[in-house]
Amino acid sequence: MSKPQVLMIGGGMIAADQILPSLYQLQRRGVLGGIGVCAQRGATVKALADVEMIRRAFPGHSFRPYPDPATAGDAPHPLLYKELIAALPPRQIVIAAIPDQLHHDVIMTALRNNQHVLAVKPLVLTRAHAREIEQEARARGLVVGVEYHKRFDDRSLLARRRYREGWFGEFKLGTASLMEKWYYRHSNFQNWCTSENSDAFSYIGCHYVDLVHFITGLLPASVSVYGIEDRYPNGNKGYLWTDARVIWNNGACLNVQNSLSFPDGAPGTNAQGLSMYCSGGDRGAWLEHSDQYRGLRYCYTQQPDAPGSTMFAEPSTDYFQYVDTGGPGLEVVGYGFRSIDHIIAAILRVESAREDQRSTILDEIDAAGVIATPSNSSYNEMVMEAGRLSILNGGREAVINAHEITLR
Ligand SMILES: NC(=O)c1ccc[n+]([C@@H]2O[C@H](COP(=O)([O-])OP(=O)(O)OC[C@H]3O[C@@H](n4cnc5c(N)ncnc54)[C@H](O)[C@@H]3O)[C@@H](O)[C@H]2O)c1
Repeated sequence: MSKPQVLMIGGGMIAADQILPSLYQLQRRGVLGGIGVCAQRGATVKALADVEMIRRAFPGHSFRPYPDPATAGDAPHPLLYKELIAALPPRQIVIAAIPDQLHHDVIMTALRNNQHVLAVKPLVLTRAHAREIEQEARARGLVVGVEYHKRFDDRSLLARRRYREGWFGEFKLGTASLMEKWYYRHSNFQNWCTSENSDAFSYIGCHYVDLVHFITGLLPASVSVYGIEDRYPNGNKGYLWTDARVIWNNGACLNVQNSLSFPDGAPGTNAQGLSMYCSGGDRGAWLEHSDQYRGLRYCYTQQPDAPGSTMFAEPSTDYFQYVDTGGPGLEVVGYGFRSIDHIIAAILRVESAREDQRSTILDEIDAAGVIATPSNSSYNEMVMEAGRLSILNGGREAVINAHEITLR
């Protein structure tokens, strides 16, 4: 395959913080061809093109912006992505980096136009949509990779290997939390992460549910989510504090707390971590990941100006950082980059194979279970669906059955 073109739909926070710089790095390494980015408004793509850190790191790199900021004015272009996807040559790469409730439409549009897909998490919000995506992709020999980047943190890969080798016995009780900073409430989130669309558990809790499966291989059996509604600055309501209990198919229980509440003045970009208590033979076993504090403490002479940045900081070199390895520009490092790199590599692997080999390669990717796909991670959609049912019903337990999700 010649270098594939990439069209990213969505030009917001995740596009700027992780995806675009990762794509530029792959372009610099000769893996990817041209890159286009489509947002709703010209101002969004212009702001993305102007991000100082990305410009500094990738001199000479640019993307085709849609709509064109020079001519688009202020009007939103919510359906432009359909035309752009249809205009791509077949079997290129579409990236879905738009709000959760739009993933299904963008991904199905891409698949029907014979495009591979890299989707930010959560893939979609219902099991039926996940199945539809799985079938469409399979019928066309296309990859859909769900970008659960915590899987590519070496500590997750190590825990997975050690758990599966039997070092921890069997998972019984666990606690996970991921609290994003307060300032998120002031961002574009207030326009879409609202009570009718999503909640703190759907938005960020899915990471740790996915990780517990990734490490243990267990499957979720029921979910209850208690949510506290709060007002965003624009007056919209959102479940900005959630407490979830996930029961697994061996009876184990994971408590997951999520919120948009971590103080802007606190160090680190968020607070997050995972504890798992396990048993094997006549012994207990334990796994503890501090995913926020990675051992670095800085105190600067000046207040950085990015939202949520602090003079006393606890940076993580593990997720995503820019480092100077001699140029040109800067290199991006961390599991945020590795995750994108792995999914693009899987797409290239399928594309470089003979047509009659594609299905076997897709089976291998599904079976390896390292990249999340619609087929090997559909438990995430079941948890999404059960979680939404529960939170909208005051936290009642939603049971995941083979064919339906019901309230107990
Ligand atoms: N840790 C993670 O894996 C992680 C982190 C952040 C966000 N995300 C996911 O990424 C997605 C986007 O989140 P974000 O933080 O970037 O949100 P954001 O609000 O900052 O950006 C959303 C973007 O989508 C664009 N958009 C909305 N409707 C569109 C349309 N019809 N056509 C084209 N573009 C459209 C907007 O213009 C905006 O650029 C969400 O699904 C979120 O859950 C994942």
